[in-house]
Amino acid sequence: MITRPSEDAFAQRLDHYRHRVDTKLADVLRIDDAVPERLLEAMRYSVLGGGKRVRPLLVYASGGACGVGEDELDAIAAAVELIHAYSLVHDDLPAMDDDDLRRGRPTTHKQFDEATAILVGDALQALAFEVIATDRHLAENPQSQVKISAWLARASGPAGMVGGQALDMAAEGQRLDERALERIHRGKTGALIRASIMMPSELGALDAAQRSNLDTFARDIGLVFQIRDDLLEVEQDTATLGKNAGSDATNDKSTYPSTLGLEGAKRRAAETHQRAVAALQNLGDRSRDLLWLSEFILNRSH
Ligand code: IPE
Ligand code: IPE
Ligand code: MG
Ligand code: MG
Repeated sequence: MITRPSEDAFAQRLDHYRHRVDTKLADVLRIDDAVPERLLEAMRYSVLGGGKRVRPLLVYASGGACGVGEDELDAIAAAVELIHAYSLVHDDLPAMDDDDLRRGRPTTHKQFDEATAILVGDALQALAFEVIATDRHLAENPQSQVKISAWLARASGPAGMVGGQALDMAAEGQRLDERALERIHRGKTGALIRASIMMPSELGALDAAQRSNLDTFARDIGLVFQIRDDLLEVEQDTATLGKNAGSDATNDKSTYPSTLGLEGAKRRAAETHQRAVAALQNLGDRSRDLLWLSEFILNRSH
């Protein structure tokens, strides 16, 4: 059995991790004469001052489970958030979901303009890999550094997030069965969440069975995250979400609630969460932050 820290201890640790990644992100997005001013302003707008930072939190929590020091995790945590922020900027574009609200503020193309939003995404993606490639802690172990880059590239690319987004766009206006929907969700959202959890394992000392269990957890919790996202779009209000509730319906997307019904989608999220948590058991007490985060992901309100 994994022992539970108190709510307070957990909340404090999350604040500490959020502060770490926010410091790192502010540093990589600092004023730089080589970067055009307006582009940098739009990049900073898109990344800083908003967002739950779930993927970086998973990086630190997984690092804890794998016995990896926090200094080695900052670059990975920042890089995955840069990729995530890029994916949101592009996801909101008129050619994609055409949304005007994100993280409680106008979307990047509304605040700036469409061309700038496209370029912000491009820039954040490249910057993420620069952060991994130039980190002095990761450079101490070049083999792991390359494997970490490969995880991030695979998860964000055509077999991961971008692939999922392509399927999501192609499916607008169609009624999908659960199998097809699961494929989209595992790609557009699950892949980056899986990578957030698996990248730290490249720096740690898990045995093969533990690694395989961590991967089972990582895959399933990514799916839970997106099922919950679908449910929130139906059940939560725009002010709490900080993005437009009902956007899926407007764009005629298939979602877990539209395919399985509200209760069916909730059941599927709970079952998938249970399966994920069962896989954590052989990692012992070190995985307690992952366990807590998984519950946050299942029950989150925004
Ligand atoms: C929203 O992600 C988009 C999805 C991939 C479902 P988050 O809910 O993590 O968004 P932020 O980062 O907190 O804004
Ligand atoms: C977002 O999925 C997935 C990515 C950005 C890769 P959605 O389009 O379902 O998420 P929201 O509702 O806009 O955050
Ligand atoms: Mg979308
Ligand atoms: Mg969207």
